[in-house]
Amino acid sequence: MTLPAAMALRLEDHAVQPAARVGVIGAGQLARMLHEAAVPLNVEVRVLTEDLGACAVRAGAVPVLGSDQDLDDLRALAAGCDVVTFEHELADLSLVDELASEVPVRPSARATRTAQDKLHGRRALQAGGFPCPRFRPVYDLEDIHGFMLEIEGPAVLKARSGGEGGRSVWMIDDAASAKRAWDEAFARRLNVLVEERVAIRSEVSVLVARSPNGQRVAYPVLETRHVDGTCHEVHLPAQVGDDQAAQAVELGLHLAEALDVAGVLAVELFITDDGMLVNELSLRPHNSGHVTIEACATSQFQQHLRAILGWPLGSPRLVAPCAVMVNVFGNDAGGDPSHQLPSALAVPEVYPHLYGKLAQSGRKLGHVTALGERREEVLARARAATAVLRR
Ligand SMILES: Nc1ncnc2c1ncn2[C@@H]1O[C@H](COP(=O)(O)OP(=O)(O)OP(=O)(O)O)[C@@H](O)[C@H]1O
Ligand SMILES: [Mg+2]
Repeated sequence: MTLPAAMALRLEDHAVQPAARVGVIGAGQLARMLHEAAVPLNVEVRVLTEDLGACAVRAGAVPVLGSDQDLDDLRALAAGCDVVTFEHELADLSLVDELASEVPVRPSARATRTAQDKLHGRRALQAGGFPCPRFRPVYDLEDIHGFMLEIEGPAVLKARSGGEGGRSVWMIDDAASAKRAWDEAFARRLNVLVEERVAIRSEVSVLVARSPNGQRVAYPVLETRHVDGTCHEVHLPAQVGDDQAAQAVELGLHLAEALDVAGVLAVELFITDDGMLVNELSLRPHNSGHVTIEACATSQFQQHLRAILGWPLGSPRLVAPCAVMVNVFGNDAGGDPSHQLPSALAVPEVYPHLYGKLAQSGRKLGHVTALGERREEVLARARAATAVLRR
């Protein structure tokens, strides 16, 4: 019997294999951009999600329906994959560790724990001799008072897990603000820590990648500009001295080694008059690195794929003298930035990325990147397009 031509074609399609399959725990915008970077390499990205409308799925990543708190679901994600990786740190890491005996998980659950729990991260930094703000775990209001008496200065209370763009970070100056912060954290059932509030001159982020065979690359240092604890803009290269930039890169590469990272590592750093302090670790692509999609020879997303697959790493060099990324947050009316896209595209030479998420006031819905010769001019273009998308 001869098969109809259309059916024969379909059978042949099944014989076409991707270059590799990567399972991703999570299906938000980072998984979406990882998928985008995987397409030209013919790498298949599968995402573990409980929501078939998740934005990585909308972009074409293969969904595996399930929970990151369930070993069978994690196994279903991993089946047939060459490697499993993370787009967030919220999975049950003891289960992920079990999974790692069946399929490579990169970075390891052990390394990822330093990013899952800020207290654990701070302790690991301290043990490795990396500078960070003084800190203490908090179990009741008295712990905050005791810590502030000890440091004799203002403090910051923050959730240990699930950083949400500064929404679980409270500045504390006195007993009244300490009580307000503690009450809110308690009501939200958050595990928290308190740390000294440092006088920040600027915030930078060091982005490095390390492969299982030890190859390492470092991107030029990125400067993050925050408003009320939330990152709004990223400027590349950072406006810091050459010595400071070299020191930051050195620290990032050291940390990647110390934590035995496989994949991308982003280190958020505070620059102060007394030197630099590590704020936060992300063992995955990071918001500050979105600018690398257009600004660098290899984006942080393709770099992460190469690193976890054990493939040669790509060049992180800048392809333009400077670049700026501006985050697009939902406006007060909950308007969808997609409706403004044609007008934003009228701004010359900007690269908008819309994540395909439900528009809500204050929610991160996309970003805009611009490249060029002069920082002020590049910044103006990126801001202009972002303002249109926020209308
Ligand atoms: N110890 C501190 N001293 C001064 N400012 C701080 C301190 N800790 C945090 N901040 C400010 O709050 C911001 C958010 O803090 P942090 O990165 O810990 O929270 P987050 O919710 O994980 O944020 P994100 O998800 O954006 O990384 C920092 O970028 C910084 O601007
Ligand atoms: Mg942070």
